[in-house]
Amino acid sequence: MTAQPWWKTAVGYQVYPRSFCDSNGDGVGDLPGIASKLDYLAELGIGFIWLSPVYASPMADNGYDISDYRAIAPVFGTMDDFDSLLAQASARGIRIVMDLVVNHTSDQHAWFREAKLGRSAKYHDFYIWRDPAPDGGPPNNMKSTFGGPAWTFSPETGQYYFHLFAPAQPDLNWANPALRAEVYDMMNWWLDKGVAGFRMDVIDLIGKDPDAGIAADGPTLFAHLAEMQRAALAGRDVVTVGEAWSARPDNALAYCGADGPLSMVFQFAHVLEGWDATFGKWKATPRNLPALKRVFDTWQAALAQDGWNSLFWSNHDLPRAVSKYGDTRHRAHSAMALATVLHMMKGTPYIYQGEELGMTNTTFPTRAAFNDLEVHGAWPEMQALGLGEADFLAGANANGRDNARTPMQWSAAPQAGFTTGTPWLPVNPNHKTINAAQRHTPPSVFAHYQRLIRLRQHHPILTNGDHRPLLPDDPDIWAYTRHWQGQRLTVLANLSSETRQIALPEAGQISGQCLSHTHAPRPALGAHPAFAPWEAVAILAST
Ligand code: NOJ
Repeated sequence: MTAQPWWKTAVGYQVYPRSFCDSNGDGVGDLPGIASKLDYLAELGIGFIWLSPVYASPMADNGYDISDYRAIAPVFGTMDDFDSLLAQASARGIRIVMDLVVNHTSDQHAWFREAKLGRSAKYHDFYIWRDPAPDGGPPNNMKSTFGGPAWTFSPETGQYYFHLFAPAQPDLNWANPALRAEVYDMMNWWLDKGVAGFRMDVIDLIGKDPDAGIAADGPTLFAHLAEMQRAALAGRDVVTVGEAWSARPDNALAYCGADGPLSMVFQFAHVLEGWDATFGKWKATPRNLPALKRVFDTWQAALAQDGWNSLFWSNHDLPRAVSKYGDTRHRAHSAMALATVLHMMKGTPYIYQGEELGMTNTTFPTRAAFNDLEVHGAWPEMQALGLGEADFLAGANANGRDNARTPMQWSAAPQAGFTTGTPWLPVNPNHKTINAAQRHTPPSVFAHYQRLIRLRQHHPILTNGDHRPLLPDDPDIWAYTRHWQGQRLTVLANLSSETRQIALPEAGQISGQCLSHTHAPRPALGAHPAFAPWEAVAILAST
């Protein structure tokens, strides 16, 4: 058998640097802080870190607004700190994957500062400019993801510039070959340093056609990705994962099929499934397990032969997995059961920092208590659509991005051991009981994740096996089998807070090695096994 690429058996771990570990007491996490926790990550067993942006940035969007692609933000440390982190991680067998944010820059990037000086300024063409509409207003009615128009007037040029995010994040003009060459050069510079690849921020937006009102999945997207592949990635042993909210089962192979430019995409069908039709994430909706399973089943099937899935519950833009899909009254077991169903699927699993401890959402009592610009941009628009303040607050508490960004809970000490100063975002009060120092206390979510990560390295059926859903319409039970070379893996989980009997199609015939369990091991299952709330098992058998 040909060797698998390393990223098919490794598990990724996302570090959001601002909230991970603060080494100097300024209340913001930093690179030396991350380095100080590498032993913890090695103990967990992850193969690579996806590092959210650490580049120079005014931090309008916490680093997703880059002002210099080849410099480290002073608040995170220095380039020497980065090089040292890379070396120390590598010594532990941990690779580092950078966040590549090239749909836009900061408005403080030297390119944009120059570009806005006038229509014939150097770098003007690195951004997207249009003349005002005849009434002096924006060229068209495209909207920014963070609220308001996607166009901002710039008096120096007498033109509008385009931004799909905040006005402080002007979109780069990918139609300009000189811009593209700069991006590839920068990518090569980081790869030559030894980073293991890129997570590509909103990469499905780079083929946009603003004049036609097209943002995602635009006409030049795949031509740009193919060119990027040739210019920066070909021949390198790297992983590339494109963030693509617009990806669908029917175009996913264009990204990550056999000849596709990327290793995999982050697609968000399971996230979008849970959003309200009118108010999106800003109105909390109850979980619909059959619909959620259907999404995963569809993607497992779509990429069964060619292509490769990424698997994740959470990231820095999403709520905490256990709060969103589990039950915090059964916190540890629901975190473990959710991890089981995700990690036993085919694809590369990603853990968002703190998920391995079962960290939860926090409570923001008022709108003003939120830090994230997205919440503040969304409110006027949701209000205009008819959403009341109380409902908006509930939605923001359920799905707002700040939930994932509260500091990592290292211990029961003041500020959760994250900082000796005042954290940039308050720590979750539950750090007294949910923290890394207590990670071995049963029932241990951490130990469960450790085991799931190891299983992936030792059982090729997890990388190679097919995926066959069971009981798709059951509102509480998540069940599937995987088959490969005379083996069958059965994964069963009761994702509810009640005891449930499971009516298995092959009842009485499931026995083998219990690879993973949240409660007692179950080497064999009777006809109608009763599963405790949030109990999950994975049983490997010969066929
Ligand atoms: C997606 C990132 O994950 C998010 O945090 C950011 O705000 C936007 N892209 C803009 O870069």
